[in-house]
Amino acid sequence: MPKAKVTFADNGVTVTVPAGTRLIEVSEQAGASIVYGCREGECGTCLTRIVSGGENLAEPSMLEDEVLKNLLARHDQRLACQAQVLGGEIVVNPYLKT
Ligand code: FES
Repeated sequence: MPKAKVTFADNGVTVTVPAGTRLIEVSEQAGASIVYGCREGECGTCLTRIVSGGENLAEPSMLEDEVLKNLLARHDQRLACQAQVLGGEIVVNPYLKT
């Protein structure tokens, strides 16, 4: 199974996880600080900046896309409870909300 390497810019921790893992789950493994609420892709609390490697995440679902639009999210922001890693390397920064 492909693996992805995810680095959290807030605490500098890098973890390797199987493809298909959601960023919020990676954050929990890494002791990183992505704040979340519903975990259902509805509240937008988990909005997270993808510093690099956004191409290594699965495309947003229709639900995530709609919430991102409603939040006026930047093109490099994703909902951590929805975004699944595909492989490669990804750097995220939970603190860069705008
Ligand atoms: S935790 Fe609610 S949208 Fe991600």
